[in-house]
Amino acid sequence: MKIYAHRGSSGTAPENTIAAFREAASLPIHGVEFDVHMTKDGELVVIHDERIDRTTTGSGFVKDMTLGELRQFDAGSWFSADFVGQLIPTLEEVLEVFKPRHHHINIELKSDVFPYEGMGDKVVALVERMGLTDRVVISSFDHVSIRSIKRTVPQIETGALFVEVLVDAFEYGQRIPANALHMALPASLRPASAEAMAKGAVVRVFTVNEEQYVDLLLKTKVEAIFTDYPERMYNYINRK
Ligand code: G3P
Ligand code: CA
Repeated sequence: MKIYAHRGSSGTAPENTIAAFREAASLPIHGVEFDVHMTKDGELVVIHDERIDRTTTGSGFVKDMTLGELRQFDAGSWFSADFVGQLIPTLEEVLEVFKPRHHHINIELKSDVFPYEGMGDKVVALVERMGLTDRVVISSFDHVSIRSIKRTVPQIETGALFVEVLVDAFEYGQRIPANALHMALPASLRPASAEAMAKGAVVRVFTVNEEQYVDLLLKTKVEAIFTDYPERMYNYINRK
């Protein structure tokens, strides 16, 4: 079973920061996952929430601030004093960390409440410019944006995110179309998920931080897990 570092190595460093990504990039794991939003001045930035309050010293929505304004805030101190000075990284800075490495790169397009006009196209243009088209999977809970990316650049791998598994999930994935189904852990263990995998669906599961869940998933056809503890999970799976 493959391992993706979820928001970087986010159990051991502040999520979605260069520190968390450098740690993930140093590991012999398969891939990395992170989240993208867009600033007021159209810059692509890597942060999970629509607001900056939980993971930085600032307050407010990413969409209401310029990159310069966002960079005034610390994105590491909430995690521990060891990470003071970490900033919200741009997508380009994060891709630069992984470019010289081997990792598969899962870029999640965030689509919480406020839509980001044209964000998918900007992400694809940057990925192409950096020569990473065959190294990325672009995922989203917004399956329309996945469909539109696939129509524009058919060779880009896409993943449809689900909290619950649908009946006929395999057929639904084909219809979008998406190359993979990225499912929440409980959904991935439902019979409908097993049925989809038996038909050939590629299923990756978030977020798996407990060894007991890994044991359960190893009995299925799940291809990969997203975990906040990539080093620990790598050691666990490879010791088995
Ligand atoms: O991409 C899988 C997972 O990261 C989706 O949930 O909330 O952690 O972005 P979330
Ligand atoms: Ca995510």
